[in-house]
Amino acid sequence: MTDPASDAPGPVFRLIYSSHLRIPAHQRKAELGAIFSTARSKNTKAGVTGALLVWHDHVVQALEGDETVVRDLYSTIYEDIRHERVTILEATTVPERVFGRWSMARVSDDEDQPDIPLLMNRDKGGISPAAPRPTTPEQDEVIATMREYARASAQPA
Ligand SMILES: Cc1cc2nc3c(=O)[nH]c(=O)nc-3n(C[C@H](O)[C@H](O)[C@H](O)COP(=O)(O)O)c2cc1C
Repeated sequence: MTDPASDAPGPVFRLIYSSHLRIPAHQRKAELGAIFSTARSKNTKAGVTGALLVWHDHVVQALEGDETVVRDLYSTIYEDIRHERVTILEATTVPERVFGRWSMARVSDDEDQPDIPLLMNRDKGGISPAAPRPTTPEQDEVIATMREYARASAQPA
């Protein structure tokens, strides 16, 4: 799902954090659905864009927007009892929004229909035209970093 979150060009603050979900497996799908629903509606109003990667119990989320707004939102998210071990990985101003069309993109290999598939279908035979690219190269770069963070946070300390 895409939404017209913010099209303004120029520098933006980006915060990336990791955390560990505390939601029991049988409630996970419903609870993550509720989180995405809240995130999309609140983020759109706040001019925040981003992506949320859920990999097993591990979360990596990127939040882009005005620095004060993003830091305030992070404080709210930090307090959320549905996850723990919330740790900032990056907090910096970047030249452009990467997730400009997404108030909160779902990047997940646990879901049936992720908005941004982690695994691209390979072109079989090369005859059929390539499917429209779901992500930009800039998004691919940030998503790849988020996946590395998720896998790193899954390693025992
Ligand atoms: C992993 C995770 C990611 C979240 N991401 C967002 C988000 O991007 N935007 C948002 O508004 N709330 C997000 N939330 C929910 C917030 O923690 C909070 O419950 C929500 O903003 C409602 O806040 P309110 O009490 O001010 O209405 C997230 C929660 C979790 C556990």
